[in-house]
Amino acid sequence: MEKSAKKQETESDIPCEKLNFSSLDALRQAVFNLDFPLKKTARHTVFSDGAPDSEVMIIGEAPGQDEDEQGKPFVGQSGKLLSAMLSSVGLSRSEVYISNIVFWRPPGNRTPSAEEIAFCMPYVEQHVKLAHPKVLLLLGGVAVKSILNTSEAISRLRGSISAYLGIPTIATFHPAYLLRSPGQKALAFRDFILLKKTLLSQH
Ligand code: URA
Repeated sequence: MEKSAKKQETESDIPCEKLNFSSLDALRQAVFNLDFPLKKTARHTVFSDGAPDSEVMIIGEAPGQDEDEQGKPFVGQSGKLLSAMLSSVGLSRSEVYISNIVFWRPPGNRTPSAEEIAFCMPYVEQHVKLAHPKVLLLLGGVAVKSILNTSEAISRLRGSISAYLGIPTIATFHPAYLLRSPGQKALAFRDFILLKKTLLSQH
């Protein structure tokens, strides 16, 4: 018999490129079972909120303090502004599907590191594939850079439609940035109109 029996491979040991989950529930379970340094400082793993079968999926950066406490994305001040922007184009928070690039709050709300983003990205890709929305909305630089694999500023990317996994994808400012720079809200409002128009054009 071999001296050290080979450890049995579990789903979370498999390199992420090989992961291919059969359902959102299986993916959610795998993400909740992950072991990662950020998880140790966070209270909750924040996976998603809203309607998983929605035609609109929204991806932000990472949970903040309120999200970490409640275990749901975009429930703090940024979330309130997001809900208001959605309702301005006739969409309610409960009818969209919301997630983040990183599943745990970075300590002190710092920007997630490149390693933290790289660790989560294969799961995010699976997430988008399984949710298969008709339109994807990216909030802020971390989501835009990670999903569209670009270093272009949002101010240059916004206003046009990109594609991610064949899904029409719209980039806009992060609500936290809009709270600090309210003068940019009018541009963001145009992006939400583009979101709505893109959605209607898919019917
Ligand atoms: N900011 C984000 O990017 N995501 C959240 O869930 C909350 C704030």
